[in-house]
Amino acid sequence: MIFGRVKPLDAILATAEKKSLQRSLGAFQLTMLGIGAVIGTGIFVLTAEAAQKAGPGMMISFIIAGLVCAFAALCYAEMASMVPVSGSAYTYSYAVMGELIAWMVGWALILEYAVAAGAVSVGWSGYVVGLIENAFGVTIPKAWVLGPFDGGVINLPAMFIAGVVTMLLVIGTRESATINAILVTIKVSALTLFIILAIPVMNMEQFEPFAPLGFGGIGAAAASIFFAYVGFDAVSTAAEETKNPQRNMPIGLIGSLGICTIFYLLVAAGVIGAPGLSSQPIVDAAGAAMEPGSRELAAQCVARAAEGIKDVVCSKEALAFTLREIGWPQIGNLLGLAAGLALPSVILMMMFGQTRIFFVMSRDGLLPEAFSKIHPKFNTPHVITILTGVFVALFAAFFPVGQLANISNSGTLFAFAAVSIAVMVIRKSDPTRHRPFRTPAIFVTAPIAIAGCAYLFLKLDMKSQLLFIIWAVIGLAVYFLYSRSRSHVGRGIVDEVHEQDADAPPQPVPPVE
Ligand code: ALA
Repeated sequence: MIFGRVKPLDAILATAEKKSLQRSLGAFQLTMLGIGAVIGTGIFVLTAEAAQKAGPGMMISFIIAGLVCAFAALCYAEMASMVPVSGSAYTYSYAVMGELIAWMVGWALILEYAVAAGAVSVGWSGYVVGLIENAFGVTIPKAWVLGPFDGGVINLPAMFIAGVVTMLLVIGTRESATINAILVTIKVSALTLFIILAIPVMNMEQFEPFAPLGFGGIGAAAASIFFAYVGFDAVSTAAEETKNPQRNMPIGLIGSLGICTIFYLLVAAGVIGAPGLSSQPIVDAAGAAMEPGSRELAAQCVARAAEGIKDVVCSKEALAFTLREIGWPQIGNLLGLAAGLALPSVILMMMFGQTRIFFVMSRDGLLPEAFSKIHPKFNTPHVITILTGVFVALFAAFFPVGQLANISNSGTLFAFAAVSIAVMVIRKSDPTRHRPFRTPAIFVTAPIAIAGCAYLFLKLDMKSQLLFIIWAVIGLAVYFLYSRSRSHVGRGIVDEVHEQDADAPPQPVPPVE
Protein backbone atom coordinates (compact mmCIF):
# COMPACT_ATOMS: atom_id res chain seq x y z
CA MET A 1 0.00 0.00 0.00
CA ILE A 2 1.57 3.20 -1.16
CA PHE A 3 0.48 5.37 1.72
CA GLY A 4 1.97 3.01 4.29
CA ARG A 5 5.11 3.84 6.20
CA VAL A 6 4.39 7.45 6.91
CA LYS A 7 7.04 9.17 8.97
CA PRO A 8 5.09 10.82 11.78
CA LEU A 9 4.94 14.54 11.31
CA ASP A 10 5.35 15.11 15.02
CA ALA A 11 8.64 13.20 15.03
CA ILE A 12 9.84 15.37 12.16
CA LEU A 13 8.68 18.50 13.90
CA ALA A 14 10.29 17.55 17.19
CA THR A 15 13.59 17.89 15.40
CA ALA A 16 12.66 21.33 14.11
CA GLU A 17 11.80 22.59 17.56
CA LYS A 18 15.32 21.77 18.69
CA LYS A 19 16.61 24.11 16.07
CA SER A 20 14.69 27.11 17.38
CA LEU A 21 16.19 29.40 14.83
CA GLN A 22 15.65 33.07 15.25
CA ARG A 23 12.93 34.56 13.13
CA SER A 24 15.02 37.24 11.53
CA LEU A 25 14.25 37.27 7.81
CA GLY A 26 11.90 39.89 6.41
CA ALA A 27 10.27 40.18 3.00
CA PHE A 28 13.28 41.96 1.50
CA GLN A 29 15.84 39.39 2.60
CA LEU A 30 13.61 36.57 1.38
CA THR A 31 13.24 38.21 -2.00
CA MET A 32 17.02 38.60 -2.23
CA LEU A 33 17.47 34.95 -1.27
CA GLY A 34 15.06 33.95 -4.03
CA ILE A 35 16.72 36.09 -6.69
CA GLY A 36 20.14 34.80 -5.62
CA ALA A 37 19.08 31.19 -6.11
CA VAL A 38 17.03 31.73 -9.25
CA ILE A 39 18.97 33.92 -11.68
CA GLY A 40 21.59 31.83 -13.43
CA THR A 41 22.17 29.74 -16.51
CA GLY A 42 18.48 29.88 -17.42
CA ILE A 43 18.51 33.50 -18.51
CA PHE A 44 22.21 33.82 -19.31
CA VAL A 45 22.40 30.75 -21.56
CA LEU A 46 19.09 29.01 -22.18
CA THR A 47 17.62 32.08 -23.85
CA ALA A 48 19.36 30.81 -26.99
CA GLU A 49 17.82 27.34 -26.60
CA ALA A 50 14.39 28.85 -26.05
CA ALA A 51 14.79 30.92 -29.22
CA GLN A 52 15.63 27.77 -31.17
CA LYS A 53 12.39 26.21 -29.94
CA ALA A 54 10.00 29.13 -30.14
CA GLY A 55 11.65 32.12 -31.85
CA PRO A 56 10.42 35.47 -30.46
CA GLY A 57 7.43 33.61 -28.96
CA MET A 58 9.80 32.58 -26.17
CA MET A 59 8.54 35.68 -24.37
CA ILE A 60 5.24 33.85 -23.81
CA SER A 61 7.25 30.81 -22.69
CA PHE A 62 8.87 32.85 -19.92
CA ILE A 63 5.42 33.90 -18.70
CA ILE A 64 4.00 30.34 -18.77
CA ALA A 65 6.98 28.87 -16.88
CA GLY A 66 6.89 31.73 -14.35
CA LEU A 67 3.18 31.19 -13.68
CA VAL A 68 3.58 27.45 -13.11
CA CYS A 69 6.38 28.21 -10.67
CA ALA A 70 4.31 30.83 -8.85
CA PHE A 71 1.47 28.37 -8.19
CA ALA A 72 3.89 25.63 -7.13
CA ALA A 73 5.74 28.12 -4.92
CA LEU A 74 2.58 28.94 -2.99
CA CYS A 75 2.06 25.24 -2.26
CA TYR A 76 5.71 24.81 -1.29
CA ALA A 77 5.41 27.67 1.14
CA GLU A 78 2.63 26.05 3.18
CA MET A 79 4.54 22.78 3.45
CA ALA A 80 7.78 24.53 4.27
CA SER A 81 6.21 26.63 6.99
CA MET A 82 4.51 23.58 8.50
CA VAL A 83 7.47 21.18 8.19
CA PRO A 84 10.46 23.51 8.41
CA VAL A 85 13.21 20.88 8.32
CA SER A 86 15.86 19.72 5.89
CA GLY A 87 15.05 17.56 2.95
CA SER A 88 12.50 19.77 1.23
CA ALA A 89 9.97 17.92 -0.94
CA TYR A 90 11.35 14.55 0.18
CA THR A 91 10.61 15.22 3.84
CA TYR A 92 7.18 16.71 3.13
CA SER A 93 6.20 13.66 1.10
CA TYR A 94 7.45 11.27 3.78
CA ALA A 95 5.16 12.89 6.31
CA VAL A 96 2.11 12.97 4.10
CA MET A 97 2.22 10.33 1.41
CA GLY A 98 4.50 7.69 2.81
CA GLU A 99 7.88 6.24 2.16
CA LEU A 100 7.53 5.00 -1.40
CA ILE A 101 6.39 8.37 -2.74
CA ALA A 102 8.99 10.13 -0.59
CA TRP A 103 11.67 7.86 -2.03
CA MET A 104 10.53 8.62 -5.57
CA VAL A 105 10.51 12.35 -4.82
CA GLY A 106 14.00 12.15 -3.28
CA TRP A 107 15.15 10.13 -6.26
CA ALA A 108 13.70 12.79 -8.61
CA LEU A 109 15.38 15.53 -6.59
CA ILE A 110 18.72 13.97 -7.51
CA LEU A 111 17.86 14.89 -11.06
CA GLU A 112 16.76 18.34 -10.00
CA TYR A 113 19.84 19.26 -8.05
CA ALA A 114 22.80 17.27 -9.37
CA VAL A 115 21.87 17.54 -13.03
CA ALA A 116 21.03 21.23 -12.62
CA ALA A 117 24.46 21.80 -11.07
CA GLY A 118 25.91 20.17 -14.20
CA ALA A 119 23.83 22.44 -16.44
CA VAL A 120 24.93 25.59 -14.63
CA SER A 121 28.57 24.42 -14.85
CA VAL A 122 28.23 24.13 -18.63
CA GLY A 123 26.61 27.58 -18.72
CA TRP A 124 29.51 29.00 -16.71
CA SER A 125 31.97 27.42 -19.12
CA GLY A 126 30.30 29.09 -22.12
CA TYR A 127 30.61 32.55 -20.58
CA VAL A 128 34.12 32.16 -19.25
CA VAL A 129 35.43 30.76 -22.54
CA GLY A 130 33.71 33.60 -24.44
CA LEU A 131 35.19 36.13 -22.03
CA ILE A 132 38.74 34.76 -22.37
CA GLU A 133 38.47 34.58 -26.15
CA ASN A 134 37.06 38.07 -26.58
CA ALA A 135 38.98 39.90 -23.87
CA PHE A 136 42.37 38.41 -24.67
CA GLY A 137 41.92 37.64 -28.34
CA VAL A 138 42.83 33.97 -27.98
CA THR A 139 41.04 31.06 -29.55
CA ILE A 140 40.55 28.05 -27.34
CA PRO A 141 40.16 24.75 -29.26
CA LYS A 142 36.49 23.80 -29.24
CA ALA A 143 37.39 20.15 -28.58
CA TRP A 144 38.26 20.98 -24.95
CA VAL A 145 35.49 23.43 -24.11
CA LEU A 146 32.43 21.74 -25.59
CA GLY A 147 30.91 18.33 -24.99
CA PRO A 148 30.67 15.74 -27.79
CA PHE A 149 27.05 16.62 -28.69
CA ASP A 150 27.98 20.27 -29.13
CA GLY A 151 30.78 19.60 -31.60
CA GLY A 152 33.64 19.16 -29.08
CA VAL A 153 35.16 16.30 -27.09
CA ILE A 154 35.01 17.25 -23.42
CA ASN A 155 34.02 20.40 -21.57
CA LEU A 156 37.05 20.89 -19.32
CA PRO A 157 36.12 24.31 -17.86
CA ALA A 158 32.73 22.95 -16.80
CA MET A 159 34.45 20.02 -15.08
CA PHE A 160 36.86 22.42 -13.45
CA ILE A 161 34.18 24.62 -11.89
CA ALA A 162 32.24 21.56 -10.67
CA GLY A 163 35.47 20.37 -9.02
CA VAL A 164 36.14 23.72 -7.39
CA VAL A 165 32.63 23.96 -5.97
CA THR A 166 32.89 20.38 -4.66
CA MET A 167 36.09 21.31 -2.86
CA LEU A 168 34.48 24.40 -1.35
CA LEU A 169 31.60 22.28 -0.09
CA VAL A 170 33.93 19.68 1.38
CA ILE A 171 35.75 22.33 3.38
CA GLY A 172 32.41 23.62 4.57
CA THR A 173 31.73 26.73 2.51
CA ARG A 174 28.20 28.06 2.69
CA GLU A 175 26.99 31.17 1.14
CA SER A 176 26.55 33.97 3.64
CA ALA A 177 23.80 36.54 3.36
CA THR A 178 26.41 39.19 2.55
CA ILE A 179 27.94 37.21 -0.32
CA ASN A 180 24.46 36.44 -1.59
CA ALA A 181 23.62 40.16 -1.55
CA ILE A 182 26.83 41.00 -3.45
CA LEU A 183 26.19 38.32 -6.07
CA VAL A 184 22.55 39.34 -6.47
CA THR A 185 23.74 42.91 -7.04
CA ILE A 186 26.24 41.73 -9.66
CA LYS A 187 23.66 39.62 -11.49
CA VAL A 188 20.92 42.22 -11.37
CA SER A 189 23.32 45.02 -12.43
CA ALA A 190 24.53 42.93 -15.38
CA LEU A 191 20.98 42.25 -16.54
CA THR A 192 19.97 45.89 -15.97
CA LEU A 193 22.91 47.10 -18.03
CA PHE A 194 21.92 44.68 -20.77
CA ILE A 195 18.36 45.98 -20.75
CA ILE A 196 19.45 49.64 -20.77
CA LEU A 197 21.69 49.06 -23.79
CA ALA A 198 19.59 46.59 -25.76
CA ILE A 199 15.98 47.78 -25.36
CA PRO A 200 16.37 51.28 -26.89
CA VAL A 201 17.94 49.92 -30.10
CA MET A 202 15.40 47.14 -30.61
CA ASN A 203 14.29 46.51 -34.15
CA MET A 204 10.62 45.56 -33.93
CA GLU A 205 10.65 43.85 -37.31
CA GLN A 206 12.70 41.07 -35.77
CA PHE A 207 9.72 40.00 -33.71
CA GLU A 208 8.17 38.73 -36.97
CA PRO A 209 7.27 35.93 -37.35
CA PHE A 210 6.48 35.89 -33.63
CA ALA A 211 5.75 32.18 -33.27
CA PRO A 212 7.35 30.41 -36.24
CA LEU A 213 6.75 26.99 -34.66
CA GLY A 214 3.29 27.73 -33.27
CA PHE A 215 2.09 27.16 -29.74
CA GLY A 216 3.79 23.77 -29.68
CA GLY A 217 7.14 25.56 -29.91
CA ILE A 218 6.17 28.06 -27.22
CA GLY A 219 5.20 25.20 -24.87
CA ALA A 220 8.44 23.32 -25.58
CA ALA A 221 10.47 26.45 -24.88
CA ALA A 222 8.48 27.00 -21.64
CA ALA A 223 9.39 23.46 -20.54
CA SER A 224 13.09 24.26 -21.03
CA ILE A 225 13.07 27.81 -19.73
CA PHE A 226 11.33 26.58 -16.56
CA PHE A 227 14.91 25.95 -15.50
CA ALA A 228 15.43 29.70 -15.25
CA TYR A 229 12.99 29.81 -12.30
CA VAL A 230 14.19 26.77 -10.39
CA GLY A 231 15.77 27.53 -7.05
CA PHE A 232 13.00 29.47 -5.36
CA ASP A 233 12.51 26.51 -3.01
CA ALA A 234 15.48 28.07 -1.21
CA VAL A 235 13.01 30.74 -0.08
CA SER A 236 10.41 28.32 1.22
CA THR A 237 12.98 26.34 3.18
CA ALA A 238 13.76 29.50 5.14
CA ALA A 239 10.19 29.54 6.47
CA GLU A 240 11.26 28.83 10.01
CA GLU A 241 13.58 31.80 10.05
CA THR A 242 11.00 34.21 8.71
CA LYS A 243 9.30 36.94 10.68
CA ASN A 244 5.53 36.94 10.14
CA PRO A 245 5.68 34.17 7.52
CA GLN A 246 2.03 34.50 6.54
CA ARG A 247 2.82 37.93 5.16
CA ASN A 248 6.50 37.73 4.23
CA MET A 249 6.62 34.27 2.66
CA PRO A 250 4.29 35.02 -0.27
CA ILE A 251 5.97 38.40 -0.76
CA GLY A 252 9.39 36.70 -0.87
CA LEU A 253 8.27 33.93 -3.21
CA ILE A 254 6.01 35.82 -5.56
CA GLY A 255 8.20 38.92 -5.28
CA SER A 256 11.37 37.13 -6.36
CA LEU A 257 9.56 35.22 -9.11
CA GLY A 258 7.83 38.42 -10.28
CA ILE A 259 11.06 40.43 -10.36
CA CYS A 260 12.86 37.62 -12.21
CA THR A 261 10.01 37.34 -14.74
CA ILE A 262 10.14 41.07 -15.50
CA PHE A 263 13.92 40.93 -15.96
CA TYR A 264 13.65 37.81 -18.12
CA LEU A 265 11.01 39.35 -20.38
CA LEU A 266 13.00 42.55 -20.88
CA VAL A 267 16.23 40.62 -21.52
CA ALA A 268 14.47 38.29 -23.97
CA ALA A 269 13.00 41.29 -25.80
CA GLY A 270 16.47 42.87 -25.99
CA VAL A 271 17.95 39.70 -27.46
CA ILE A 272 15.16 39.20 -30.01
CA GLY A 273 15.17 42.82 -31.15
CA ALA A 274 18.98 43.21 -31.39
CA PRO A 275 19.67 44.71 -34.82
CA GLY A 276 21.67 42.48 -37.11
CA LEU A 277 21.00 39.31 -35.12
CA SER A 278 18.50 36.56 -35.79
CA SER A 279 16.61 34.85 -33.00
CA GLN A 280 14.55 32.71 -35.33
CA PRO A 281 14.98 28.92 -35.11
CA ILE A 282 17.36 27.26 -37.55
CA VAL A 283 15.42 24.70 -39.54
CA ASP A 284 16.52 21.66 -41.53
CA ALA A 285 15.83 20.99 -45.21
CA ALA A 286 12.34 19.72 -44.35
CA GLY A 287 11.55 22.95 -42.46
CA ALA A 288 11.63 21.37 -38.97
CA ALA A 289 13.54 23.15 -36.20
CA MET A 290 16.85 21.46 -35.43
CA GLU A 291 17.34 20.07 -31.95
CA PRO A 292 19.27 22.38 -29.62
CA GLY A 293 22.49 20.80 -28.42
CA SER A 294 22.68 18.46 -31.43
CA ARG A 295 25.66 17.87 -33.72
CA GLU A 296 23.50 18.80 -36.73
CA LEU A 297 22.68 22.19 -35.27
CA ALA A 298 26.33 22.75 -34.26
CA ALA A 299 27.42 22.00 -37.86
CA GLN A 300 24.74 24.29 -39.27
CA CYS A 301 25.83 27.05 -36.90
CA VAL A 302 29.43 26.80 -38.14
CA ALA A 303 28.25 26.97 -41.76
CA ARG A 304 25.97 29.96 -41.16
CA ALA A 305 28.62 31.83 -39.17
CA ALA A 306 30.98 31.38 -42.14
CA GLU A 307 28.35 33.10 -44.29
CA GLY A 308 28.24 35.96 -41.80
CA ILE A 309 24.80 35.15 -40.36
CA LYS A 310 24.62 36.01 -36.69
CA ASP A 311 22.31 33.55 -34.98
CA VAL A 312 21.48 34.02 -31.30
CA VAL A 313 20.48 30.36 -31.15
CA CYS A 314 24.09 29.34 -31.87
CA SER A 315 25.61 31.31 -29.01
CA LYS A 316 26.72 29.71 -25.76
CA GLU A 317 26.69 33.15 -24.12
CA ALA A 318 23.65 34.76 -25.68
CA LEU A 319 23.62 37.98 -23.67
CA ALA A 320 27.33 38.80 -23.99
CA PHE A 321 27.14 37.88 -27.69
CA THR A 322 24.20 40.26 -28.20
CA LEU A 323 25.99 43.15 -26.48
CA ARG A 324 29.13 42.61 -28.57
CA GLU A 325 27.08 42.55 -31.75
CA ILE A 326 25.17 45.75 -30.98
CA GLY A 327 28.38 47.66 -30.46
CA TRP A 328 29.26 47.16 -26.78
CA PRO A 329 32.11 44.62 -26.82
CA GLN A 330 33.62 45.72 -23.51
CA ILE A 331 30.28 45.69 -21.73
CA GLY A 332 29.70 42.26 -23.28
CA ASN A 333 32.92 41.10 -21.65
CA LEU A 334 31.86 42.70 -18.38
CA LEU A 335 28.62 40.75 -18.52
CA GLY A 336 30.65 37.59 -19.14
CA LEU A 337 32.68 38.44 -16.05
CA ALA A 338 29.50 38.95 -14.02
CA ALA A 339 28.21 35.54 -15.13
CA GLY A 340 31.60 33.99 -14.39
CA LEU A 341 31.52 35.39 -10.85
CA ALA A 342 27.88 34.77 -10.03
CA LEU A 343 27.04 31.39 -11.58
CA PRO A 344 29.28 29.32 -9.25
CA SER A 345 27.05 30.35 -6.34
CA VAL A 346 24.08 28.77 -8.13
CA ILE A 347 26.14 25.58 -8.58
CA LEU A 348 27.03 25.73 -4.90
CA MET A 349 23.39 26.05 -3.83
CA MET A 350 22.32 23.20 -6.09
CA MET A 351 25.08 20.87 -4.91
CA PHE A 352 24.50 21.81 -1.31
CA GLY A 353 20.80 20.98 -1.75
CA GLN A 354 21.77 17.65 -3.26
CA THR A 355 24.08 16.65 -0.44
CA ARG A 356 21.40 17.63 2.09
CA ILE A 357 18.77 15.41 0.40
CA PHE A 358 21.20 12.48 0.22
CA PHE A 359 22.14 13.07 3.82
CA VAL A 360 18.55 12.98 5.05
CA MET A 361 17.74 9.92 2.92
CA SER A 362 20.77 8.10 4.26
CA ARG A 363 19.87 9.10 7.81
CA ASP A 364 16.42 7.57 7.23
CA GLY A 365 18.15 4.32 6.29
CA LEU A 366 17.08 4.47 2.63
CA LEU A 367 20.62 5.03 1.34
CA PRO A 368 23.83 3.52 2.74
CA GLU A 369 24.87 4.94 6.08
CA ALA A 370 28.36 5.56 4.68
CA PHE A 371 26.82 8.42 2.71
CA SER A 372 26.21 10.41 5.85
CA LYS A 373 29.79 10.02 7.11
CA ILE A 374 31.14 13.27 8.39
CA HIS A 375 34.64 14.55 7.80
CA PRO A 376 36.48 14.67 11.15
CA LYS A 377 38.10 18.03 10.47
CA PHE A 378 35.70 19.91 8.21
CA ASN A 379 32.54 18.52 9.76
CA THR A 380 30.90 18.13 6.36
CA PRO A 381 29.33 15.07 4.71
CA HIS A 382 32.42 14.69 2.52
CA VAL A 383 31.69 11.22 1.11
CA ILE A 384 28.40 12.21 -0.41
CA THR A 385 29.70 15.62 -1.46
CA ILE A 386 32.60 14.10 -3.40
CA LEU A 387 30.35 11.45 -4.95
CA THR A 388 27.91 14.16 -6.02
CA GLY A 389 30.80 16.26 -7.35
CA VAL A 390 32.10 13.40 -9.50
CA PHE A 391 28.70 12.91 -11.12
CA VAL A 392 28.14 16.63 -11.61
CA ALA A 393 31.57 16.95 -13.26
CA LEU A 394 30.83 14.03 -15.57
CA PHE A 395 27.44 15.41 -16.59
CA ALA A 396 29.05 18.79 -17.21
CA ALA A 397 31.89 17.30 -19.22
CA PHE A 398 29.84 15.47 -21.78
CA PHE A 399 26.29 16.81 -22.07
CA PRO A 400 24.88 19.97 -23.60
CA VAL A 401 23.43 22.55 -21.25
CA GLY A 402 19.89 22.39 -22.67
CA GLN A 403 19.68 18.63 -22.34
CA LEU A 404 20.88 18.76 -18.75
CA ALA A 405 18.42 21.55 -17.96
CA ASN A 406 15.54 19.56 -19.45
CA ILE A 407 16.44 16.42 -17.50
CA SER A 408 16.72 18.48 -14.33
CA ASN A 409 13.32 20.02 -15.10
CA SER A 410 11.71 16.59 -15.35
CA GLY A 411 12.76 15.79 -11.78
CA THR A 412 11.80 19.22 -10.49
CA LEU A 413 8.35 19.10 -12.09
CA PHE A 414 7.72 15.73 -10.46
CA ALA A 415 8.78 17.04 -7.05
CA PHE A 416 6.68 20.21 -7.42
CA ALA A 417 3.61 18.18 -8.37
CA ALA A 418 4.18 15.84 -5.42
CA VAL A 419 4.37 18.75 -2.98
CA SER A 420 1.22 20.29 -4.45
CA ILE A 421 -0.62 17.00 -3.91
CA ALA A 422 0.83 16.61 -0.41
CA VAL A 423 -0.33 20.03 0.68
CA MET A 424 -3.94 19.23 -0.31
CA VAL A 425 -3.85 15.79 1.33
CA ILE A 426 -2.64 17.19 4.63
CA ARG A 427 -5.27 19.95 4.61
CA LYS A 428 -7.84 17.14 4.69
CA SER A 429 -6.03 14.66 6.92
CA ASP A 430 -4.75 17.11 9.51
CA PRO A 431 -6.79 20.29 9.18
CA THR A 432 -6.11 21.69 12.64
CA ARG A 433 -2.32 21.60 12.55
CA HIS A 434 -0.66 24.99 12.93
CA ARG A 435 0.21 26.45 9.56
CA PRO A 436 2.35 29.60 9.78
CA PHE A 437 1.55 30.14 6.10
CA ARG A 438 -1.62 28.95 4.37
CA THR A 439 -1.72 28.65 0.60
CA PRO A 440 -4.53 30.91 -0.61
CA ALA A 441 -7.42 29.02 -2.28
CA ILE A 442 -5.50 25.76 -1.95
CA PHE A 443 -8.00 23.61 -3.83
CA VAL A 444 -7.66 25.90 -6.83
CA THR A 445 -3.98 26.82 -6.50
CA ALA A 446 -2.65 23.27 -6.05
CA PRO A 447 -4.58 21.70 -8.96
CA ILE A 448 -3.38 24.52 -11.23
CA ALA A 449 0.21 23.86 -10.08
CA ILE A 450 -0.18 20.11 -10.73
CA ALA A 451 -1.74 20.66 -14.15
CA GLY A 452 0.99 23.17 -15.02
CA CYS A 453 3.74 20.74 -14.01
CA ALA A 454 2.10 17.94 -16.01
CA TYR A 455 1.79 20.22 -19.04
CA LEU A 456 5.43 21.29 -18.92
CA PHE A 457 6.58 17.70 -18.38
CA LEU A 458 4.66 16.62 -21.48
CA LYS A 459 6.26 19.45 -23.46
CA LEU A 460 9.80 18.32 -22.59
CA ASP A 461 11.70 16.55 -25.34
CA MET A 462 11.19 12.80 -25.63
CA LYS A 463 14.75 12.02 -24.57
CA SER A 464 14.33 13.80 -21.23
CA GLN A 465 10.95 12.18 -20.59
CA LEU A 466 12.38 8.78 -21.39
CA LEU A 467 15.39 9.36 -19.17
CA PHE A 468 13.09 10.40 -16.35
CA ILE A 469 11.11 7.17 -16.72
CA ILE A 470 14.27 5.04 -16.83
CA TRP A 471 15.55 6.90 -13.77
CA ALA A 472 12.25 6.26 -11.96
CA VAL A 473 12.37 2.53 -12.81
CA ILE A 474 15.94 2.31 -11.49
CA GLY A 475 14.74 4.16 -8.39
CA LEU A 476 11.96 1.65 -7.82
CA ALA A 477 14.40 -1.23 -8.22
CA VAL A 478 16.82 0.31 -5.70
CA TYR A 479 13.95 0.90 -3.30
CA PHE A 480 12.59 -2.63 -3.40
CA LEU A 481 15.98 -4.35 -3.54
CA TYR A 482 17.83 -2.23 -1.02
CA SER A 483 16.08 0.60 0.77
CA ARG A 484 12.75 -0.89 1.77
CA SER A 485 14.21 -3.51 4.07
CA ARG A 486 16.66 -1.06 5.63
CA SER A 487 14.28 1.83 6.18
CA HIS A 488 14.29 3.07 9.76
CA VAL A 489 10.58 3.82 9.66
CA GLY A 490 9.91 0.35 8.20
CA ARG A 491 11.95 -1.21 11.02
CA GLY A 492 10.05 0.78 13.60
CA ILE A 493 12.92 3.07 14.48
CA VAL A 494 11.61 6.59 14.78
CA ASP A 495 14.89 8.30 15.34
CA GLU A 496 15.11 11.37 17.41
CA VAL A 497 17.30 13.06 14.90
CA HIS A 498 19.02 16.17 15.91
CA GLU A 499 18.32 18.52 13.10
CA GLN A 500 21.15 20.88 12.42
CA ASP A 501 21.25 24.48 13.11
CA ALA A 502 21.01 26.15 9.73
CA ASP A 503 24.53 27.46 9.99
CA ALA A 504 26.17 24.29 11.20
CA PRO A 505 27.19 21.40 9.01
CA PRO A 506 25.35 18.12 9.50
CA GLN A 507 26.60 16.02 12.40
CA PRO A 508 27.00 12.27 12.45
CA VAL A 509 23.92 10.37 13.46
CA PRO A 510 24.37 8.04 16.41
CA PRO A 511 23.96 4.38 15.50
CA VAL A 512 20.31 3.47 15.62
CA GLU A 513 20.30 -0.23 16.36
N1 ALA B 1 17.44 28.94 -11.99
C1 ALA B 1 18.78 28.55 -11.97
C2 ALA B 1 19.49 28.92 -13.22
O1 ALA B 1 18.87 29.40 -14.14
C3 ALA B 1 18.91 27.10 -11.71
O2 ALA B 1 20.67 28.73 -13.32
